Amino acid sequence: MKPALSCCGITFNAPAKMPDARVRQSEISALYDKLSGIYDIWGKLTESRARNRAIELAKIRDGQNVLEVAVGTGLAFYEIVKRNPHGSNVGIDLSPGMLEKAKTRLKKLSGANYTLNIGTAFDLPVKNGSVDVVMNNYLFDLIPYEDMDKVLSEFKRVLKKGARLILVNMTKGERFGSNLYDFVYRISPRTMGGCRGVKLSEKLEQHGFKVEAREYHQQLLFPSEVIVAYKE
Ligand SMILES: C[S@@+](CC[C@H](N)C(=O)[O-])C[C@H]1O[C@@H](n2cnc3c(N)ncnc32)[C@H](O)[C@@H]1O
Repeated sequence: MKPALSCCGITFNAPAKMPDARVRQSEISALYDKLSGIYDIWGKLTESRARNRAIELAKIRDGQNVLEVAVGTGLAFYEIVKRNPHGSNVGIDLSPGMLEKAKTRLKKLSGANYTLNIGTAFDLPVKNGSVDVVMNNYLFDLIPYEDMDKVLSEFKRVLKKGARLILVNMTKGERFGSNLYDFVYRISPRTMGGCRGVKLSEKLEQHGFKVEAREYHQQLLFPSEVIVAYKE
């Protein structure tokens, strides 16, 4: 049965097929520059449960090489660097506005070892097989399906054998009201920051990752998946 949302006597049926990305990558940087001023409010209200769980599951140990792709305003990166002050922490993002916010946040951690730079998930600025943990939150939900393979190949390229990939995505809703955001996306994808629900486990397996766990979290009706996978 298709999930439905009822409001004021009107029932909205969710689309049977998951939609593809409707905001082009060439527009993302400018869009997130605009959203950077309010992103933390959204990020804390709807995503903090899944993001905190991802940090827990990453089991970061001091001294590791950690890469966060699409760091945004640094909500997770701050926690990563705090746990890994003597390791290497590299954060990249497409949006200068989001990165500025991340840099301001990270200033509170004096003496920690990190870099925050403009960069794209399609061409990671790190050597083959050099990373212990790749963290990536709420990126694949704005990437077109046909481009996901390229990003996953990059993740695989930079990870050491047996190393850990932690992914958080907006996903397909599984509980009451969780398809609200699909409706918002259908009407105005930019209001959702270009994000729609996706499910990544199968794609990860196709790329030779071993998916150890997939958890579903819902916060203020917003559905997220948290995935822990290993490079085999
Ligand atoms: C929904 S926000 C999530 C930010 C952060 N990961 C978090 O959980 O708070 C998506 C972020 O992905 C960045 N982004 C989008 N496409 C990207 C790409 N190809 N490479 C790097 N960053 C990208 C955007 O600039 C934005 O900061």
